[in-house]
Amino acid sequence: MYLKNISLLNFKNYEESSLEFSKKINCFVGNNGAGKTNVLDAVYYLSFCKSYFNPIDSQNIKHDTPFFVIEGVFVKDTKEDHVYCGLKKGQKKTFKKNKKEYERLADHIGSYPAVIISPADRDLITEGSDVRRKFLDSVISQSDKLYLDDLINYNKALSQRNALLKYFAANNTFDSGTLSIYNSQMVDLGNKIHQKRIGFVEKLQPIFDRYYKAISKGNEPVSLLYNSNLIDNNYAEQLETSLQRDMTLQYTTKGIHKDDLEFTIEGYPIKKMGSQGQQKSFLIALKLAQFDFIKELNGYKPLLLLDDIFDKLDESRVEEIIKLVNEHHFGQIFITDTHPERTENIIKRINEDYKLFTVEKGAVV
Ligand SMILES: Nc1ncnc2c1ncn2[C@@H]1O[C@H](COP(=O)(O)OP(=O)(O)O)[C@@H](O)[C@H]1O
Ligand SMILES: [Mg+2]
Repeated sequence: MYLKNISLLNFKNYEESSLEFSKKINCFVGNNGAGKTNVLDAVYYLSFCKSYFNPIDSQNIKHDTPFFVIEGVFVKDTKEDHVYCGLKKGQKKTFKKNKKEYERLADHIGSYPAVIISPADRDLITEGSDVRRKFLDSVISQSDKLYLDDLINYNKALSQRNALLKYFAANNTFDSGTLSIYNSQMVDLGNKIHQKRIGFVEKLQPIFDRYYKAISKGNEPVSLLYNSNLIDNNYAEQLETSLQRDMTLQYTTKGIHKDDLEFTIEGYPIKKMGSQGQQKSFLIALKLAQFDFIKELNGYKPLLLLDDIFDKLDESRVEEIIKLVNEHHFGQIFITDTHPERTENIIKRINEDYKLFTVEKGAVV
């Protein structure tokens, strides 16, 4: 699977640009702020229906213009699919495949999977559990269509239950019948999601471990610990026993919406105990493990988006990546770098077809 071309209209700092990609390696070089990462983000949009960097869709419209359009042609086996994403200010975003609009964006997710490695990944370590839950969800939903449906429905039931708790408090009332409807929906969906998250983390851990050792050249044990209220607990019972507390707080305190993925090194949180270098290796290993996970489940290679990756890696880590590329481990790759010479030197050592794009102030030359 690969992206054959892309065209951008009023996307971020691009007015109008059309690019034809190599099936293999595409490098974007240019100064800071030129628009290299924005191209990667446009590719990400076509895969995930959203930006990796800016969750507010409308802020991705070029300043002082009313809309953006991103279009691209994906090739899977020999079949070509035209994917369109358009957003007008103040309107709902439109997503189409071969001119037919999707009813739900969720139906598109996972069709053309991608994995991004970017400096922004550090949020996974430094920020709250919601960022890590999003990571879990975005990886699992790329290879499991039902997962996203269950998650959407769980979140619906959760917000209805929370609204009901608020209603009870505001009206000094209680209605166990309505509450039990939401409880049973949440228990049913929550348990399914929980099992899938367990399965995912179990599968990811050994791949992650292998990558970490290869990239860091270190032997320190690293792990991904899945933390959930539902572990060793019956979720239905938990909702019962936390009811008083939930009513006081007017919020559902137990469930998979509280899950976290803890990152540890030698048994300690990597956020506190990991060196800069260990944290970088950790994040890259995590993303490469994500790549292998999706590749295995979907049966084809996701796109790999490497944003400023050479800044983050020393010689030996770069060596490891080149080795993987030369072993044909990856499919199509998109790389950004501020140093054209560095990129060319690395690319020369890779025996694959490549294209080098020079980016200047929102234009590719
Ligand atoms: N909605 C927008 N409209 C116009 N410019 C934007 C918009 N969003 C981001 N930009 C600009 O894009 C530039 C950053 O592009 P980016 O791709 O991150 O650069 P780099 O080449 O360093 O990766 C910044 O100058 C930023 O102001
Ligand atoms: Mg950048």
